[in-house]
Amino acid sequence: MKKFWIFGGLAATLLLSACSGPRERGATDGVERIPEVEALLAQMTVEEKVGQMAQLTLDVLTVGENEFVTEEPLRLDSAMVRKALVDYGVGSILNTASNKARTVEKWHEVISELQRVAAEETRLGIPVLYGVDAIHGTTYTVGATFFPQQIGQAATWNRELVRKGGEITAYETRASGIPWNFSPVLDMGRDPRFARMWETFGEDVHLVSELGVELVKGYEGENNEVSNPFHVASCLKHYLGYGTPWSGKDRTPAHLSNTELRERHLPAFEAAIEAGAHTVMVNSGLINGVPVHASHRLLTGLLKEELGFQGLVVTDWADINNLHSRDRVAVNHKEAVKLAINAGIDMSMIPYSLDFCDDLVALVNEGEVAMARIDDAVRRILNTKHKLGLFERPVTHYEDYPLFGSAEFEAAAYQAAQESMTLLKNEDNILPLPTDARILVAGPNAHTMRALNGGWSYTWQGRDNEAFTGDYATILDAIRAKVGAHRVEFVEGVRYVNEASYWVEEEVDVAAAVRAAARVDYIVLALGENSYTEKPGDLHDLTLSEQQLRLAEALAATGKPVILVLNQGRPRIIRRIEPLMKGVLQAYLPGNFGGLAVADVLFGSINPSGKLPFTYPMYTNSLVTYDHKPSEHQAKMAGAYDYESDFAVQYPFGFGLSYTEFTYSDLSLSSEELTADGELEVQVTLSNTGGRAGKEVVQLYTSDLFASLTPDVRRLRAFDKIALEPGEAETVRFVLRSADLSFINAEGQRVTEPGDFELELGGLTAGFRYVE
Ligand code: BGC
Repeated sequence: MKKFWIFGGLAATLLLSACSGPRERGATDGVERIPEVEALLAQMTVEEKVGQMAQLTLDVLTVGENEFVTEEPLRLDSAMVRKALVDYGVGSILNTASNKARTVEKWHEVISELQRVAAEETRLGIPVLYGVDAIHGTTYTVGATFFPQQIGQAATWNRELVRKGGEITAYETRASGIPWNFSPVLDMGRDPRFARMWETFGEDVHLVSELGVELVKGYEGENNEVSNPFHVASCLKHYLGYGTPWSGKDRTPAHLSNTELRERHLPAFEAAIEAGAHTVMVNSGLINGVPVHASHRLLTGLLKEELGFQGLVVTDWADINNLHSRDRVAVNHKEAVKLAINAGIDMSMIPYSLDFCDDLVALVNEGEVAMARIDDAVRRILNTKHKLGLFERPVTHYEDYPLFGSAEFEAAAYQAAQESMTLLKNEDNILPLPTDARILVAGPNAHTMRALNGGWSYTWQGRDNEAFTGDYATILDAIRAKVGAHRVEFVEGVRYVNEASYWVEEEVDVAAAVRAAARVDYIVLALGENSYTEKPGDLHDLTLSEQQLRLAEALAATGKPVILVLNQGRPRIIRRIEPLMKGVLQAYLPGNFGGLAVADVLFGSINPSGKLPFTYPMYTNSLVTYDHKPSEHQAKMAGAYDYESDFAVQYPFGFGLSYTEFTYSDLSLSSEELTADGELEVQVTLSNTGGRAGKEVVQLYTSDLFASLTPDVRRLRAFDKIALEPGEAETVRFVLRSADLSFINAEGQRVTEPGDFELELGGLTAGFRYVE
């Protein structure tokens, strides 16, 4: 159950010098002045301003024995609502109650009542800003359309599909009366140990930046017209450097140089801010010992001043408390509030108590937090409410959203699931399978919607999925539908034990699975992970579980061809069994249409076109991304270092097979030189030389041959997804500019250095020179 992350009883003794935050720190210049907002601000008391900066979780406002518990059926506790909204002027509410999906009718009832109290019973009638995590569809609304999780969306490499998914999610979130979405995740999925890798668009800076912008535009609209009731405000999270902690565990310290932060972690945020994103959520962890929530340098210096971000900055869950109780940079809660607000936080996701308000009012009255800082925060919050149109229309009505959960929306989610499917191995062209074959379906992921959807699906951890997924097909259901139930045997072999830890598994009937194998032509083995997110998803070993590996070995030993389907949030190590598998299909967390999409690939109804958005590791101690330094790849050289590095990955970044063949030819560059303000046009011919229609992701990489900082061996600079009929060819064009070749130098500046570059596209290479 989410989330009693209350860490009690800690008397912190450690204070950073930054704790005694400068009093003069206040407004950041340039935030838009909206006359209606300025008029309101001018009338507000300190208490009213501070209230706007407070965000509570819905459980606090519901009938239940305490603030953590909601009694069913969900009802608002009118005394608590009044205390929060009227007495304290709380400006924002988040989340669902009991972390559980609600109907659009229930959402409408709850949010209308909150808005009614805010409008009619508070002095200034400022509407509530309601926020929710709708991260692959509208997570907490019954009947919403679920897309693949971001890692699967990234595997489509299809900008249009990602944007469409954002548009549909925005529509369905507004259908639920909610105007603010805590998405997209722009963290870098560069460490497969991390429990939230699947919430990212993968390991590459360019791919994450491009798809992040599409999702922002999908949520907010092409011109960020968020007052449009079919759009929502997006929230870029988790700024900055979340996702690559040193231990691989959630919310543990990261050690990131300024160069690394700017080279890998900042660009996606920069691009999304440039694209007009309205809000940002902060990284819950530490960077170089400093909690990001207390970092004036990152929140005010970099985000608000250098990037010129004008929107609102919200904390992550309980993270002001954490400055005291977990991270011990503040001796008490009040000190923590001071640190965070002076660092540049505008709104606190508190989320259970009102102490934040009392402490912040006192800090303002004592002169420890400047009124200018409070005004800046409240201006950003009220501007967001204003832009969302909440003053005119505080709640949207589900009856105005006839396409909610419609066949049209579901078709888009189904297509995204299909295009995410990434075929990693197809020995002897074993796939596609004939539809008159007899099939044994096995594995703990074969018959579960929970694992197909992953976390943030109807419930926080994805538990109890089955209560909401109705008739959606599991992998088993979909295979039965393809070949006829009479041709399909099902023996699980291994089962997830849904107890305290998600990683408990038990062998149930391996012997029965082996016996069943004798009666079939092929085995489809669905392995991977159960659903999880955040801290509960921390893992001690990236290797696939021993039980699952043994099941795979036992089935392979029968001599029947085994096709492995991987339904997992991160690449679990499969080195031991991979050589025994005839086919390997990476399905990620494909959502409610994942079962159908898997069967479509297995039986050839579609031609797979997904490509890995991360490097699939082969060994647990070799978690190296594709954009590594040359020293990872040392060749044997004469002289002192007479050895070579053992560099091995299971499958490379960008890899994925098709049922047709694509051929690249005629690579040409418009010039051998690129100048500082010039353009280099790159052309290549892509031909479908195989037997069926298909889609290919054309990927353009460059390598900087020598630079003042050791260059990455290669970097993705451009990509496009192209559909071709058999026999068809197309000329694909890209344009490179100086900025595309730039990197962050040792001084932290973005530069493009003159010199030689190599370009690679579909295995073809060409050299060119950059001159200033
Ligand atoms: C997560 C965020 C999420 C927030 C609100 C936090 O625990 O880290 O990603 O947006 O909760 O639910």
